[in-house]
Amino acid sequence: MIIGSKLLFYQNLPSTNTFAAAMVRENSVPEGSIIITDYQSAGRGQMGNRWESEENKNLLISIVLFPSMIHPAEQFLLSTAVSLGICDFLRAHTGEISIKWPNDIYVKNDKIAGILIENSIMGDIIEHTIAGIGININQEIFISNAPNPVSLANITGKQYDLTESLSLLASCLDKRYKLLISENYDILRSDYLSLLYRRDQWHKYQDQAEIFTGRILKVSDTGRLIIEREDGTLNEYDFKEVEFLL
Ligand code: BTN
Repeated sequence: MIIGSKLLFYQNLPSTNTFAAAMVRENSVPEGSIIITDYQSAGRGQMGNRWESEENKNLLISIVLFPSMIHPAEQFLLSTAVSLGICDFLRAHTGEISIKWPNDIYVKNDKIAGILIENSIMGDIIEHTIAGIGININQEIFISNAPNPVSLANITGKQYDLTESLSLLASCLDKRYKLLISENYDILRSDYLSLLYRRDQWHKYQDQAEIFTGRILKVSDTGRLIIEREDGTLNEYDFKEVEFLL
């Protein structure tokens, strides 16, 4: 086992990602180490957002990886593997799971998990990766202005043991990370595609120019979203260049 080979638990931290990055800079941390906490006072989400999580209710982890086999141009494979590991874990408890590009994990139309991957890149090498994961497990009420949070407890009406959940999650992530190490990129990419939220369905989107109707076809190897318009033209987007409308 690589992911989960070492567990470092802290009762509370500002952010497991920030703490993990400092640890990697200051000490030698074995690959696959998981930093886990019960509470974050400054949990970070994508685009500078905060990540809400009630104390002792959810999984809040950061994994330290040294993915030197991945060229920085292919770093989206890391998001792919981590997203799929989370989906594999959730599948043990619920259905209707999808990945909202680039790496939000959804159940139906609600967000159950978020991923914050931070890579340290030097030239052609990814020196280290901190893969931060927040999964809503037992929290029942959300107070932040996040648009559509949901937890496993909201979906199933059950409560879950966080230690058991962590152990299953680590093994699901480990399997996907091993596919990455063994260069099974095709499996990772096709599994990601098959779980892509709104794929092949016509919906409204907004880019810098306008609101338009389109359908998601796929994600490029560099992680760009490819959307077809009604007139058959294709557009490629980077993160935050396109917004999903209802
Ligand atoms: C997002 O969807 O905006 C990403 C959320 C990522 C949250 C996790 S919780 C554990 C780790 N530590 C952080 O500060 N953020 C990530």
